[in-house]
Amino acid sequence: MVKIDLSGCDSFVAKERFEEYVKKALAAQQVLEDETGAGNDFLGWQHLPSAIGKEQLDDCLGVVDRWIEKEVDLVVVIGIGGSYLGAKAAIEALSHSFSSLLGLQGPKVVFAGENLSEDYTAELLDLLQTRNAACVVISKSGTTTEPAVAFRLVKQHLEDTYGKEEACSRIVAITDKARGALKSLANQEGYKTFVIEDNIGGRFSVLTPVGLVPIALAGFDIEAMVRGAKDAEKALADRSADNPAVRYAAMRNLLYAQGKKVELFASFHPKMQYLGEWLKQLFGESEGKDGKGIFPASVIFTTDLHSMGQYIQDGERMLFETVITVENAQREVSIPRDEQDLDGLNYLAGKRVEHCNRMAQLGTRMAHIDGGVPNIDIRIEQLDEYHLGQLFYFFEKVCGISAYVLGVNPFNQPGVEAYKKNMFKLLEKPGY
Ligand code: PA5
Repeated sequence: MVKIDLSGCDSFVAKERFEEYVKKALAAQQVLEDETGAGNDFLGWQHLPSAIGKEQLDDCLGVVDRWIEKEVDLVVVIGIGGSYLGAKAAIEALSHSFSSLLGLQGPKVVFAGENLSEDYTAELLDLLQTRNAACVVISKSGTTTEPAVAFRLVKQHLEDTYGKEEACSRIVAITDKARGALKSLANQEGYKTFVIEDNIGGRFSVLTPVGLVPIALAGFDIEAMVRGAKDAEKALADRSADNPAVRYAAMRNLLYAQGKKVELFASFHPKMQYLGEWLKQLFGESEGKDGKGIFPASVIFTTDLHSMGQYIQDGERMLFETVITVENAQREVSIPRDEQDLDGLNYLAGKRVEHCNRMAQLGTRMAHIDGGVPNIDIRIEQLDEYHLGQLFYFFEKVCGISAYVLGVNPFNQPGVEAYKKNMFKLLEKPGY
């Protein structure tokens, strides 16, 4: 199971205060699990892993098989926010860092509709010209502008290239069961469709087809991911003060109450960069409301120690750090001996690169704690589908508990509408 080490907060919080917050978190856990809190019509994610059966997984895998038959070598996944970040985080975490350059097997998954950049769009269209492509379009509301614009362009490309009927077989829509423009379009055109249940919000949807279809298309084992989430669902239902989700929710709220307003998610593994983005959305959209909320930020170390390190060590003391540690590297690389030792690195000869990374992590932890940054350590054994499934569910559960301790509804996002209203007015959308 996901492990948590809170000893890096010992010098910042009084034990009794922490016990107080553990009680608050246990009460919040009860509200969440008994479904009596604000937004309780959005709790479908809670028992989702144990509800996913072979039939649902096979339905997702059926898309992979059909597109392998067509020799599809590029899948454009269109979506924004919760409709892309989970898949992006998982695919980045599990992929070879240089898969494109190595020309590794399997269709490449690229993302679109998560921005409105004209240059990005034009470059995507350049790429499409060179590939045997298909598309997964994801929007729960079915009305979000960014993915709708990208989909119109990709759809047109597919229809122009393959003809209308063949294009239809290269498009999968993941959306609401009844509402929204995407649903009407999918019905009319006859696209293969997956439903996002009413009771699951975007940022809690990574373990639905929203995440599972793209992750499977990228060649990863969604059965193992769901198994990991299922194990986490079971373990984190424990209503005791030992529950790591409860302890973490308690500590982050206590630190916030003590003036640590920013949670810096850090990893010493560059493949976790988009997990940081997913976490920012999960916590930012769930907690940042009613004038409250921990501000989530993310960094990759040691990379960002050479950019953000100065601020973290020495800037305004409003930060705490949550480090996501992967205990075991998948590969081994040792530093060679060099007879001349002109770079002075022979003291590391024979040592694994991972050893250096761990010592960097330990040194950073000590320095940051000394500098006034409490440290929470969250650990998984290795970076694979199973443990990522655990991690996704763990953070969703923490988020639900934590937001209830904070006193906000974790499952709405009223603030997201403000920019849309202005943009629609400026774009002269009918009715605005
Ligand atoms: O978490 C959320 O609900 C949001 O981030 C949505 O996922 C995002 O706004 C995209 O919405 P939709 O899937 O309706 O296009």
